[in-house]
Amino acid sequence: MHIKSAEFIVSNQDVAKCPNNNIPEYAFIGRSNVGKSSLINMLTERKSLAKTSGRPGKTQLINHFLINKNWYLVDLPGYGYARVSKSTKKVFQKFITTYFEKRKQLVSAFVLVDIRHDPQPIDLEFMQWLGEHMIPFSIIFTKADKLKPKAIENHIESYKNILLETWEEMPNYFITSASKKIGRDELLAYIDSINNN
Ligand code: GTP
Ligand code: MG
Repeated sequence: MHIKSAEFIVSNQDVAKCPNNNIPEYAFIGRSNVGKSSLINMLTERKSLAKTSGRPGKTQLINHFLINKNWYLVDLPGYGYARVSKSTKKVFQKFITTYFEKRKQLVSAFVLVDIRHDPQPIDLEFMQWLGEHMIPFSIIFTKADKLKPKAIENHIESYKNILLETWEEMPNYFITSASKKIGRDELLAYIDSINNN
């Protein structure tokens, strides 16, 4: 898919104020600092469309970016400063969960996880929560430039094994690097295939 245009539309905390139309959207979610905003910039080939930072907690709002005038990429705040979550509600900010519960335009979520880390309880918990709410999602492994190909392979294998303890099959997944532009074509082709279905 060729990205002809990518425009920032609106930021807010209130799901009711998100764009009110029937344009399909795809939301990026995951722990703070995992690379959600960077991946949006990589996909759109715009250096600073979404604001990024080395310090976790940069994105604080629901941000809508209109792509090619016919679909949205949605950048969300990260979850999980707490290492282990006692209560899903406490750790996932309320407006994020409300976004996923209420947003009818959401076609699919992308749960971003750092490829260097083993499955984190908070990520597994969030995927579980999406499953319970029947919200389709794919996993995006980020920062693949940080590992060698063999290590990536081993890591994905062990990640799969842990997921298969609770999921019947491995969710759809992508391996990406915003800095090395890995995974761009695959992700855009996937979104394109859903949009044109
Ligand atoms: P919050 O908005 O705080 O939730 O973070 P985020 O998930 O949007 O992360 P962001 O894109 O701001 O990136 C966090 C840090 O990771 C920044 O220092 C980025 O430069 C770095 N980073 C993001 N993607 C990559 C990547 O693919 N490779 C490497 N090496 N670093 C990355
Ligand atoms: Mg961000």
